[in-house]
Amino acid sequence: MQTIIGKDLFAAKKLLETDELVAIPTETVYGLAANALHEDAVLKIFAAKKRPFFDPLIVHTHSVEEIKKYTDELPESGRLLLEAFAPGPVTLLLKKKKKIPDLVTSGLDTVGIRIPSHPLTLELLRMLDFPLAAPSANPFGYISPTTAEHVFNQLNNQIPYIIDGGPTTVGIESTIVGFEEEQPVVYRLGGLSINEIERVAGKVRLEINDSSNPRAPGTLKSHYAPRTPLLFITDSAEVVKYMTPNTATISLSKLNGLPEGVTQYLLSNNGNLEDAARNLFAIMRNADSRGFDRIIAVEVPNEGLGLAINDRLKRASVR
Ligand code: TXA
Ligand code: MG
Repeated sequence: MQTIIGKDLFAAKKLLETDELVAIPTETVYGLAANALHEDAVLKIFAAKKRPFFDPLIVHTHSVEEIKKYTDELPESGRLLLEAFAPGPVTLLLKKKKKIPDLVTSGLDTVGIRIPSHPLTLELLRMLDFPLAAPSANPFGYISPTTAEHVFNQLNNQIPYIIDGGPTTVGIESTIVGFEEEQPVVYRLGGLSINEIERVAGKVRLEINDSSNPRAPGTLKSHYAPRTPLLFITDSAEVVKYMTPNTATISLSKLNGLPEGVTQYLLSNNGNLEDAARNLFAIMRNADSRGFDRIIAVEVPNEGLGLAINDRLKRASVR
């Protein structure tokens, strides 16, 4: 099957209505979408990604009204989060109704659901009479795609259509938030920072897990990993110690004191963490494609989006 890249939402709609896969742009990363209410369609996602069935999928809709069709319980703090940040990079874990297949949630009684902020995908969702299940459109465990080309490079011939919505604006996946009574519990750090969540929904509890327990969303210990060994270090002074003759570095700003000729990838030109999040995955892919024998990534400040960036770098470093 030849993969077409384009902006034809009617073509995408037709494919999705016949249980085919379509890659969709969002503000975070590109997703690999299928009809969330049809198990046969959802199965194709797991097959294309080589994703284990214990790792549940996020469901995408276009409005809070739609979200209410798939859950009976929307906590007040969840409602406030949607009011403040949807469409946007946040996924809520909500008690699911029966019509969401167990395959989507890996048998859990909650469904991860979000409203992505991308004009093409929002338009597509409005044209459909079902929601879309969509994990990031990369082979399981590899770096998430932030352009249509990234998707094409890895899934060419495996899916019929990729909607080209340009490079993503946030660049890392959504923050995943569940609720204990009314308290927000963050299971995956992402494009919406903890401070922002606390501003509208009160004190957050963090439950970021390192195990392969699917209750710890998106948080398999090794994930987002390039094929080139990646070393994550907290102290930039140590880079020299770990360098090989063919090392690339990834850091927020320029590292001083490195030997001449070392390839330095800068996540931002002016130390900005939003830029860094936006550039992170494309830089990791580029570094991975150039035959370095080692990538050394230096921790960014642990504040705002920096927490999510460090989380991704750490997981990328686990083999
Ligand atoms: O930004 C995003 O969230 C992107 C775009 C495409 O929307 N999607 C994404 O999906 O990152 P994925 O499949 O790569 O990561 C979703 C994570 C999974 O690792 C899964 O463990 C967790 O969300 N998850 C989904 N539903 C869950 C649930 N009901 N309970 C616990 N974890 C859940
Ligand atoms: Mg993913």
